[in-house]
Amino acid sequence: MNATKMVYLLLFAVLLSYPPVIKAGEDPTTAPGYYPKEYINMKNPLPFDLTSLREGRKLYTGQCEVCHGVYGDGKGNAALIGKYKPMPRDFTDNNIMSKKSDGMLYYSVSKGVHGTQMFAREEIMPPNQRWAVIHYIRTFIKGEKKGK
Ligand code: HEC
Repeated sequence: MNATKMVYLLLFAVLLSYPPVIKAGEDPTTAPGYYPKEYINMKNPLPFDLTSLREGRKLYTGQCEVCHGVYGDGKGNAALIGKYKPMPRDFTDNNIMSKKSDGMLYYSVSKGVHGTQMFAREEIMPPNQRWAVIHYIRTFIKGEKKGK
């Protein structure tokens, strides 16, 4: 093979690999902390009242507690035994939770959190259940300066 042929072959190879394919790991929508704009400012349509908190607690106990824990601290049995990495979100941590809008949490509950054990719920929980459980997980937040 002479040099000219070689150059053409190389050019051909370059052309074949274009446009560059986005690999799963490079997809920006799978990056940690990514939320689509249309979710971030979504408002919880349910009132923060006893009815929705009762509903939220029922759902949490049945579907979330095994990982996020009875106290919402992310130390549920499944996560402890399975040594999950990362561990489920600690809902008592005000530093993190105060930066998350209801819409952001709704996105994660609906779509799951990429690369973690947190799977999508949109096929198995109707929207109102997702919103109710989000109200409920807000009750785990620790008051300011309560310590521990
Ligand atoms: C199989 C274990 C498991 C179950 C069951 C589970 N989660 Fe999670 N959850 C996780 C893990 C792991 C994370 C990721 C934590 C992280 O990214 O730091 C997470 C993260 C979250 C977050 C934080 C998302 C964010 O954007 O900050 C919310 C909210 C959440 N889960 C809600 C729920 C709710 C509500 C349920 C029940 C319907 C539930 N989870 C059930 C394991 C679980």
